[in-house]
Amino acid sequence: MTTTHNLASPIVFALDFPNIGSARTAANEVKSAVGMLKIGLELFVEAGREAMQMGEETGLPLFLDLKLHDIPVTVERAVARAGALGARILTVHAAGGPEMLQRAVRRAEADGNGLQITAITLLTSLDKSDLARLGVEASPAEYVRNIAKMAFESGVKSFVCSPHEVAALRQSLGETVQLIAPGVRADGAGGDDDQKRTMTASEAIANGADWVVVGRPIRDASDRLAAASAIRESCRAAQQQRQETRQETLLRQR
Ligand code: C5P
Repeated sequence: MTTTHNLASPIVFALDFPNIGSARTAANEVKSAVGMLKIGLELFVEAGREAMQMGEETGLPLFLDLKLHDIPVTVERAVARAGALGARILTVHAAGGPEMLQRAVRRAEADGNGLQITAITLLTSLDKSDLARLGVEASPAEYVRNIAKMAFESGVKSFVCSPHEVAALRQSLGETVQLIAPGVRADGAGGDDDQKRTMTASEAIANGADWVVVGRPIRDASDRLAAASAIRESCRAAQQQRQETRQETLLRQR
């Protein structure tokens, strides 16, 4: 077994702010404790190109969370622009279907600027009854498994899923895919255990996530750096265990 002491931070910090000034302040406060900055719809609609400069300003990769879902040619063209803006990750809805996903992945690969297409499996704001109203009989877990398989077969190697689906996707898609889990709360953050659908960051990583997306637990903390650092520390043991499991599995597969 190998031991790694310098584990990079697995935190994607969601810059959910209405203006560039407050986003920039928060990014600079926490940059030493997080591994990526997520620019979502709110900030991108407000400050687009300027927000994308935070990659260079902070030295952190940018996760552009636009959750694209459109006809294949339109998504492909947007992928080209996101890559040119310097995004490391761009999200698209897996529900856009195989051709949209293939064209997005191929365009990112062809442009060669390091952009990785990441598929949203199912919004965790949707439950079984919402799926039923969409005409989908499957449970959220079954739906996520099926749609992730389709996306994987379309060339996608990176997925966003609920922490509750991480273990199943890790098992079905293997060790080479990247799994990103939002909907986590800080370890030991007392008082919110009634939130049954959340998991701690370290639990999500122990289950197989490579990254955890964290917004409000850091954004709304009185000391953001302390909050981010505490989450990062809480993840170390689980990260180390994951790394060993991954190495062993990949070695066995050789
Ligand atoms: O809940 P929290 O404030 O930590 O959420 C942070 C981010 O995670 C938000 O930017 C939201 O867009 C994203 N998110 C997501 N999918 C979910 C839940 C949250 O992408 N299922």
